[in-house]
Amino acid sequence: MSSGNEQDHSFFAGKEKDSTKPWGGRFQKRLHAEMEAFAASLPFDRRLAEEDLTGSLVHCRMLMRAGIISAEEGALIEEGLEAIQREVEEGTFPFDLSMEDIHMNIEKRLIEYIGPVGGKLHTARSRNDQVALDMHLFVKKEIIAVERLLRSFQAEIVKLSEKVQEVIIPGYTHLQRAQPVLLSHHLMAYFWMLQRDRERFGDLYQRADLMPLGSGALSGTSFPIDREFAAQELGFEHLYENSMDAVSDRDFVIEFISHAALLMMHLSRLSEELIIWSSQEFSFIELSDEFATGSSMMPQKKNPDFLELVRGKTGRVYGNLVALLTVFKGLPLTYNKDMQEDKEPLFDTVDTVKTIVKIFPAMLSSLEIKRDNIEQALDQDFSTATELADYLAGQGVPFREAHGIVGAVVRYCLDQGKTLQQLTVEELSSFHPHLREPQAQDRLKPRAAVEARTSRGGTSPGALVKQLQQAKLCLGKSAFHQAGKKSD
Ligand code: ARG
Repeated sequence: MSSGNEQDHSFFAGKEKDSTKPWGGRFQKRLHAEMEAFAASLPFDRRLAEEDLTGSLVHCRMLMRAGIISAEEGALIEEGLEAIQREVEEGTFPFDLSMEDIHMNIEKRLIEYIGPVGGKLHTARSRNDQVALDMHLFVKKEIIAVERLLRSFQAEIVKLSEKVQEVIIPGYTHLQRAQPVLLSHHLMAYFWMLQRDRERFGDLYQRADLMPLGSGALSGTSFPIDREFAAQELGFEHLYENSMDAVSDRDFVIEFISHAALLMMHLSRLSEELIIWSSQEFSFIELSDEFATGSSMMPQKKNPDFLELVRGKTGRVYGNLVALLTVFKGLPLTYNKDMQEDKEPLFDTVDTVKTIVKIFPAMLSSLEIKRDNIEQALDQDFSTATELADYLAGQGVPFREAHGIVGAVVRYCLDQGKTLQQLTVEELSSFHPHLREPQAQDRLKPRAAVEARTSRGGTSPGALVKQLQQAKLCLGKSAFHQAGKKSD
C-alpha cells in the first residue's frame, strides 16, 4: 500500500484547472485562498474523524453486501480505512486544509493509499448524509458520557447530604431568612434538578438514535442500498423516514445544547449559593484552597473562581444555544452550508459541560461546612416565627389572626433588639395567653421547627431519610428508555 504523493491533487477529477476538489470537473478556477480558509471546517470537524471512519467502514460493508462494489474493492477500502484509523489514533494523519473538511480529507487519504478505487466509497452517499451521520454518532456518544458524569455528581450530593444530616441552616425566600431547613434538604434539591437533567439527556438519546445514512444529498439514492443493515451495524434503533428531513435535521444538536443550557442554569444557581455562603457575611462554608484563588493585591482574599467561572460559562452555553437556533431559523430545505456552523457551538458545549460536571463533585466534597457560624446565624434570626403562628393556629386561633399576633411579636423584638428565643415567658404571653405554654417556646427552636416538617418532601429528618432512599433508587436506574442502553 503506497502512501501516495501529497502534492498530487489530481486524484479526484483529474482536470488541470481545479483538480484539488472533488467538484473540480465543473470549475475553471481555483478557490480564492482566503475563501478556502474561510470555508474550511477541518480545524474543528477533524474531531469527527473517528465517527467519520466508523460510518465509512459500515457504508463500505453495506455497498459490498448489496453488490454495489465488489468484495475485492470493499476489502481494499476497508484496509485503507483501517490504515487511516491508525494514523488518526497515532496522531500522524496528514490533515490538509485545502481539503475543506474531515470527510474530504479522509477520502483523499484513502485514494492516496489504495488508488482510484477509493473513490468508490462515496457511491450512494453524499457529504450531506455523511456529516449528519457523524453528528448523530458524536451526539449519542456524548449523551452517554454526560449522563454518566451527572450520575457521579448526583452520587456525590447524596454522599455529602448523608454526611451533614444533622446540620440546620436558615432556608431563604427572596434571600430573606424564611424557615430553618436541613442543609441536606437544601443540597438534595440540586440532586433532583440533576435527575431531571439526566432524564432529559436520556430522552434525547432516542431522538438522536435515528440514522440519516442512505439519504444521499437530499432525495435518497437509485442504488439498491440496505439502510437497515447499516443502521444495525452502526447501532441505530431507527431510520429517518424522509431523506430531506434526514439531511436537514439538527434538532438533536440543538436539543443537546438546550438540555446543557438548563443543566448549566442549575449549576450556576448552585454556584451562586455557594459563592454567597462562602462570603464573609455568611461564612457558612469555606472552599478548599484547591478551588479558589487569592488576590494579587489584597492578601486577605479568597476568591471562589471555580464557582464564578461556572456561573460565567453558563452565559457561554446559552450563547451557543441562541447561535444555533438563529443559524437554523431561516434555512430552507435541505442542506445549506450555514449548517456547518453547528459544530463549534456543540463541541464547545460538550467540553464546557463535561469539564464542569467532572470538577464540581470534587469541589463539593472538599467544602468545609462551618457549623458554628451556621448555628450562630440561626440563633439570631426570626426563621421560627411561622412555628409560633402554626402553634397558635393549632390551638384554634385562625391562622390569619395568629400571623398578625406573631407579626407584632417580631415587631416588638426588633424594637427591643431581641431574638424570639430571648423573649421571656411574660413578654411572649402578653401577646396571647397560649404563648405562655412551654410547647409554644419549644416551637421556637430551629430543630423543633425542622422536625415538625414531616410532610412528604418536607425537611424533617424522617422525610429526608425517605428522600435519600428515593434518590438512591433513581441513581440505580438508567436514564435511557431503550432496554439495551445501559448507563452503568
Ligand atoms: N463540512 C460540511 C459541514 O460540516 C460537510 C457537508 C458539506 N456538504 C456540502 N454539500 N457542501 O456541514
